Amino acid sequence: MQIIKTVNDLRQVIKEWRRAGETIAFVPTMGNLHAGHLLLAKQAKLHADRVVVSIFVNPTQFGVGEDFDSYPRTEQADQDKLVSVGVDAVFLPAVETIYTPGACTAVTVSEVSDLYCGAFRPGHFSGVATVVCKLFNIVQPDSAFFGLKDFQQLTVIKLMVRDLNIPVEIMAVDTVREPTGLAMSSRNGYLTREEKGIAPVLYQILCEARDAILKGSQSIAVIEQSSLDALKRVGFKPDYFVVCRCVDLKKANAEDTDLVILVAARLGKTRLIDNVYFSKESCS
Ligand code: PAJ
Repeated sequence: MQIIKTVNDLRQVIKEWRRAGETIAFVPTMGNLHAGHLLLAKQAKLHADRVVVSIFVNPTQFGVGEDFDSYPRTEQADQDKLVSVGVDAVFLPAVETIYTPGACTAVTVSEVSDLYCGAFRPGHFSGVATVVCKLFNIVQPDSAFFGLKDFQQLTVIKLMVRDLNIPVEIMAVDTVREPTGLAMSSRNGYLTREEKGIAPVLYQILCEARDAILKGSQSIAVIEQSSLDALKRVGFKPDYFVVCRCVDLKKANAEDTDLVILVAARLGKTRLIDNVYFSKESCS
């Protein structure tokens, strides 16, 4: 596996692959890799001749007082994991490599970036869209792999690619969970032992809400409220729990069929997000 730190070196490697007629898949990450990230890399490997993974803790997507400084950085362990799944190159740029002084351009995907996580983390999705757009321009992959775990992020990226005519196929990969149901996340490492016992309830409540919607005996508003109450009862401080339409993340009404339930909730110092997506039609 090639370990690459500069844009020029990465472009050189990619040029050679292109010259040989090879296809390239890309997996952007912030490191501290777990089985969820590795599933993206494995899927990418099945899809293309070459796989590039980036590891970059992107400062512009963290708000003031958020965990940019303390975000877990585990470079050597990450590289070992990427080798084990056959990744061809890892791109590890310094902050100054990505954000040259005087940069004055950013990407904002309006409306959807202001909802849910965007409302609680102002500027977050603009930071994500900007860095992903820059990484796409640097790597110029045929395809890029993202986790459904970050459903709103995936929606933002799909809209950006559509609106800016970026020639990259966006591939969505299922959420990898612990045996308890807890979605794997780099931030799970912040949980105390006691919180680790409570955290899986987040997914249980999502599944109960989905089942209640499919049953059809309660309104969406009632299900949202009782889910928020259930989260608070076990010790979460929820930011939001919303039933949305998959297509544009607008709040769902009774006629919508393709749905996603999005949740963000704090447990002690840790902010967890998760979701379940389903179709009322395929389940009826
Ligand atoms: P990060 O949180 O490191 O996640 C990198 C990719 O892994 C994202 O596409 C995310 O959705 C996916 N992922 C995380 N947990 C997962 C799980 N349990 N199962 C499946 N996939 C999972 O998301 C980011 O980094 C950043 O915002 C980034 C896109 C790299 C831009 O900085």
